[in-house]
Amino acid sequence: MALTPQQRDALCSKVARRVSGLAGSATVQVMDKARRLKAEGRSVVDLSGGDPDFPTAPNVTEAAIESLNSGFTHYTPSRGIPELLKAIAKKLANENGAVYDPAKEILVLPGAKQALFIAAQALLNPGDEMILFSPAWVSYEPCASMAGATTVYVPMNFDTTAAQLKAGLEAAVSPRTKLAIVNTPNNPTGQVWTREQLQVLADAAQAHDFIVLSDEIYEKLIYDGLEHISIASYPGMLERTLLLDGLSKSHAMTGWRMGYIAGPEPLISEMLKIHQHSSTCATSFVQEASVAALNGPQDYTNTMIDRYKVRRDRLVADLNAVPGIRCDLPQGAFYAFPNIAGTGLTSMEFTDKLLDAEAVAVTPGDAFGPGGEGYVRLSYANSDEMLQEGARRIKRFVDGLSD
Ligand SMILES: Cc1ncc(COP(=O)(O)O)c(C=O)c1O
Repeated sequence: MALTPQQRDALCSKVARRVSGLAGSATVQVMDKARRLKAEGRSVVDLSGGDPDFPTAPNVTEAAIESLNSGFTHYTPSRGIPELLKAIAKKLANENGAVYDPAKEILVLPGAKQALFIAAQALLNPGDEMILFSPAWVSYEPCASMAGATTVYVPMNFDTTAAQLKAGLEAAVSPRTKLAIVNTPNNPTGQVWTREQLQVLADAAQAHDFIVLSDEIYEKLIYDGLEHISIASYPGMLERTLLLDGLSKSHAMTGWRMGYIAGPEPLISEMLKIHQHSSTCATSFVQEASVAALNGPQDYTNTMIDRYKVRRDRLVADLNAVPGIRCDLPQGAFYAFPNIAGTGLTSMEFTDKLLDAEAVAVTPGDAFGPGGEGYVRLSYANSDEMLQEGARRIKRFVDGLSD
């Protein structure tokens, strides 16, 4: 459609302020630019997206095909099919130490991102405050902002002690604090919260009466024998935690769109209303396939974890060999988050110039909040060849900066 500048301006003026003020997702934007370069015929190394390079396990795909062939292609109960709700409840009780009533306290949604959006809509009023630990995943702040709430950041990195975290939280909390989001293992840093750090957050939530949304989407992707702990399992926390999870990362199912949220019935039932009026239900045959994913063998996930660990070690070593770059060893998820400040470039300059000069797509760290400037994020959910080629090109790019 060819629009005149006047028509464009007139249409833009109709867009709601809460949306027109919103920045698009930085990760999606970089992925799109990388796709355009690929379409132009450049050999792009795309390390920007958080999408496993493994296919979905065959038993899951087969379950979806069976479901389709059996004609399971209609609306399901809005909350989710009972078999899936039960499978999720069993998993959360066994692995996350959190016991939920599948009929009342769990909601199945098309992706964990949708669960986050609905939770923010259900909880946050204009003027409310939400606490984020920075750097934090790119979609948390926009979801709060679309609900009219403000985000307050608490710095959190590998060196943050429990005492510093406590002080950061005390400084951030106000009478308007309604919600805090904890994401362990963290996107983008790969940090896994310790029992002590989670206790600090649990204490603050109970002392100041706020809800914790615990995003555990990377819970399976943990290395070096570290343990995933859900804050929902802490005494006094089940009643004030919303546990967000899904199959995108653990089961290489990003395109299937399968996520869920579990929590106290009075909150989940309000979210269910939004879901009924927006998506109705998650896709029918994806729900049946997800039962197979959760109840079937988990060795496929374990194979992916082993591969990710090998890639992590190699990538971090390669990055640390580049002058001006310093990278902590991620403890979980599938991202490296190197500090690139030593190259003299900002996160955005580094990302832009690297994409133009070497066709390597990474995500600028400032997209992850105030704690991300000076960093870029690289996903190692990519083939070994891609990662090695990416590291080679990054070295060549940084070497070229000093010429
Ligand atoms: C921290 C975090 N939470 C939630 C999600 C959403 O996952 P999905 O909507 O694919 O279930 C992502 C995806 O990148 C993520 O990185």
